[in-house]
Amino acid sequence: MAVSSRDALAGRVRGMSKAQRAVLLELDRRGLRLPTRSEMVKRAKRRQTASGRDENGNFYDWRHYCPHEPTEKQAAFLALEGREALFGGAAGGGKSDALLMAALQYVHIPGYAAIIFRRTYADLSKPGALLERAHAWLDGTAAKWIDETKTFRFPSGATISFGYLDCEKDKLNHQGAEYQFVGFDELTQFPEKWYRYLFSRLRRLKGSKIPIRMRGATNPGGVGHNWVMGRFPILTEEADAGRKSVGERGRVFIPSKLEDNPHLDTEEYEESLAELDTVTRTQLRRGDWRISSGGTVFKREWFAGRFNPSDLPKLATLRQWDLAGTEPGPTNTDPDFTRGLKSAYDPGKKILYILDLKSARKTAGAVRDLVVATAWEDGKTCPVRVEQEGGSSGKYVVEDLVGALLGFDAKGVSVSGKGGKLLRARPASAQAEAGKILLPEGAAWVSEFIDEMEAFDGSENGGSHDDIVDTLSATVDFWATKRRHTAASW
Ligand SMILES: Nc1ncnc2c1ncn2[C@@H]1O[C@H](COP(=O)(O)OP(=O)(O)O)[C@@H](O)[C@H]1O
Ligand SMILES: [Mg+2]
Repeated sequence: MAVSSRDALAGRVRGMSKAQRAVLLELDRRGLRLPTRSEMVKRAKRRQTASGRDENGNFYDWRHYCPHEPTEKQAAFLALEGREALFGGAAGGGKSDALLMAALQYVHIPGYAAIIFRRTYADLSKPGALLERAHAWLDGTAAKWIDETKTFRFPSGATISFGYLDCEKDKLNHQGAEYQFVGFDELTQFPEKWYRYLFSRLRRLKGSKIPIRMRGATNPGGVGHNWVMGRFPILTEEADAGRKSVGERGRVFIPSKLEDNPHLDTEEYEESLAELDTVTRTQLRRGDWRISSGGTVFKREWFAGRFNPSDLPKLATLRQWDLAGTEPGPTNTDPDFTRGLKSAYDPGKKILYILDLKSARKTAGAVRDLVVATAWEDGKTCPVRVEQEGGSSGKYVVEDLVGALLGFDAKGVSVSGKGGKLLRARPASAQAEAGKILLPEGAAWVSEFIDEMEAFDGSENGGSHDDIVDTLSATVDFWATKRRHTAASW
């Protein structure tokens, strides 16, 4: 909010004490936002109640500590009691504000502990960021700031802490901690495994009805864009219509739109956009999760579906290899990868589950060892297929491997006569578009998998690697052939 005109100022100043008026005029002189009259009254009241209790002796609840009236969307976010929810979309929609409000929700209850994470300490503490906002809300109230632990302690004993997870070992700072609320601001900046780790720190307070809540607020884009999109019901009709959407395991997504926040200060908005790269920036103006950099054969959003590997029934599996035997070196800094894609097919649901991806850039001998070790790991019930290159060397490599895999259903499969890479990729592309190919939750290789799918342009020797695409094409071919041959029993 820009400086109000003299008239508006006069309107606010009327009926105020001399001291209040002086504060207002000073703020106005410095070009800062003028608090409304009700805000002024609230703040003045707060300072009088160092005990943090109302006239009945009850601890003040969060309303006392939050200077903002929630918008409709924010109120919907605050009303959620389920374990996981995400408030996501356009920058400036009031998401970070909502996260702070949500953390405050139970501060009148003794023992309540909340924490809010940003990815780095700098993200947390820079001007205008969460920590500064928390200070603006809470300084001068009965909540006390403890700098060493970056914690506000409330008169009830409840706490809200601020943390960052910049690298793997930062997790350890929270090893013994227990929270009823864990918030992630800019969730798409985090790897999924850190988010999942923090679940283990969520604990119900004994004898209390406080719900345990994992809450995210985020713009689209960022390293975690894909897993976040896969985890939450973002690409749904409800969300498209701007409404709350409920997905698997009760996970809730509330889409954030710019128009939801009438309090937005345009300067601040531009500032928050400036933090981002151009693609993301365009995504953000509309809060659109779908915009991706293209993808001519496979589109990123076709791989949004995830499954939990421990929920899978027993299904037939396959390990499909595409071999390469060169290490990166001075003459070839970016050689092809050896890839081994493990999958399971559910003939009833007609779903292909991608279970695992093994990758290596090693010499032929080391690759051979990897294939053999993986076969033992997968077990003898998992067939092994190896894409056989043309010529006698290709034949030799496969014969050698099959020999080493005595006791396994191991075979070379030649692609000759099956058309070029693009033609071979078409069936996989069709299955992916129909949402029939699912990736596992939480696997580290998933983003690499999707990136390669999206970058594949169908050319034989395109600029990008296509080894994963090849294994996927061969995998779909394997299951299609198997289905045709065993149709009666499927
Ligand atoms: N309910 C509200 N009342 C008043 N101001 C609000 C409210 N919600 C958000 N704001 C303000 O609007 C601006 C943008 O909100 P913010 O939470 O930072 O958006 P986002 O995190 O979605 O980018 C901030 O200055 C914030 O304090
Ligand atoms: Mg924000």
